[in-house]
Amino acid sequence: MISKNLQKALIEQLNKEFHSAYIYLGMSAYSSKEGFNGASSWFLIQYQEEVAHGMKLFKYLEDQNVEITLPEIKSAKVEYKSLLDVFKKSLAHEQAMSKNLNNLSDIAMQEKDHATYNLLQWYVTEQVEEEATVGEIIDHIKLVGDNGYGLYTIDKELATRSFGNPTI
Ligand code: FEO
Repeated sequence: MISKNLQKALIEQLNKEFHSAYIYLGMSAYSSKEGFNGASSWFLIQYQEEVAHGMKLFKYLEDQNVEITLPEIKSAKVEYKSLLDVFKKSLAHEQAMSKNLNNLSDIAMQEKDHATYNLLQWYVTEQVEEEATVGEIIDHIKLVGDNGYGLYTIDKELATRSFGNPTI
């Protein structure tokens, strides 16, 4: 049985995962508008991954007989300054998500809720991969600077991402 305190925190996390999906949909829209079709596709896959994160938690809460509530999902931006800016914002978002998940893990550990702690470790591991991937993309974009051909090449590389395979 998950404590009421942890149930509330997990429902908040569920909302954050779907909000993340929404944020990435906005990033996809921005990239498409700017002609970065590879980045747009990359963010669309990230959107799908976030929905999958939300659904994994949703299923867990159902399995644990938690009474699910679905609070409003906040709006998401569709305007960014540049390809570098949009990926920097993505990294900052993932770092904030990692912090949330670490806090949730702390609560689960304190409450000796092994099942929830175990589930959360999957998310913690996923965060390490997400932060590393976005960090590498940022490094590549910084390397080419404003060079159009460089950005075009990176965009081509981003287009090769498929669901469950981060490419870069
Ligand atoms: Fe579901 Fe990108 O964290």
